[in-house]
Amino acid sequence: MGALLEVENLYFRYHDGTPALNGISLSINRGEKVAILGPNGAGKSTLLLHFNGVYLAQQGKVRVAGEEITRDNETRLRGKVGMVFQDPDDQVFSPTVWDDVAFGPLNQGLGRKEIEERVFQALQAVGMWDLRSRAPHHLSYGQKKRVAIAGVIAMNPEVIVLDEPTAFLDPAGQESLMEILAELHQRGKTIIVATHDVDMAAEWADKVIILKGGKILAQGDTMLLVQDTLVKEAALRFPVVSQVFQRIPSLLVRPLPRTVDEAANAIATLLKDREKKDKHHIVS
Ligand SMILES: Nc1ncnc2c1ncn2[C@@H]1O[C@H](COP(=O)(O)OP(=O)(O)OP(=O)(O)O)[C@@H](O)[C@H]1O
Ligand SMILES: [Mg+2]
Repeated sequence: MGALLEVENLYFRYHDGTPALNGISLSINRGEKVAILGPNGAGKSTLLLHFNGVYLAQQGKVRVAGEEITRDNETRLRGKVGMVFQDPDDQVFSPTVWDDVAFGPLNQGLGRKEIEERVFQALQAVGMWDLRSRAPHHLSYGQKKRVAIAGVIAMNPEVIVLDEPTAFLDPAGQESLMEILAELHQRGKTIIVATHDVDMAAEWADKVIILKGGKILAQGDTMLLVQDTLVKEAALRFPVVSQVFQRIPSLLVRPLPRTVDEAANAIATLLKDREKKDKHHIVS
């Protein structure tokens, strides 16, 4: 099985001459959960906007399911790759929330019943069904973000790309977003997220790609998030969970736990070992 999304030696420069991408190559497989991290201005959003043809490669190639994205097929390929923009004001524009989420499925030429079902499911998933008659431009930023996410879910794309999805969501909203992403992943979707949220990346990602200055600094699993020099160079920080284990030198758990589950398991093991030692001590 080939890669679902391939980027080959991609360069991109904005009209004013700013170089944003300087030779990016990467490959994402079907069903992967990918987190893209890196400092402000690293090129994350610019890269994401190439994944569904909002920007076309100026140099290099972007392929979806083996097919290069070009001016001729960008519209069709956009049905395969759904994109939630960093700023929901770039995305949410219809008179009502319902219309906004229906916009994509309507353009896909689906029947009325199917559209209604998709809009209902998508708005339920993001907790916005009750606000379906409201005007999107009168919603809060986090609510708009939820509507933008629903709009992409309703189109049922194979790949879902989200730029800073947790920004501006309240903690419960962030948690429910993680549940939505888990559910979409279970349904076989490939999910790519650009984020500054290292804790979320550590909990969630199979693959981590770290960008800086329009180049890939590193790509691999979440172990990258606890590599000291890399973390410093990419203006990141260790996941909170990892920081706790780092802070107490006697907790010599290696590799450093990165997720709450890993931390809980490590502590449970340490406690069990301690219990065994205490018993041994009492017996002898
Ligand atoms: N419309 C634009 N015109 C000119 N330069 C731009 C434009 N948008 C972005 N840039 C520049 O391109 C580079 C990459 O920006 P990009 O928005 O992709 O970064 P980012 O990694 O998404 O940053 P952030 O973490 O702040 O979202 C930066 O140097 C930025 O100033
Ligand atoms: Mg960005």
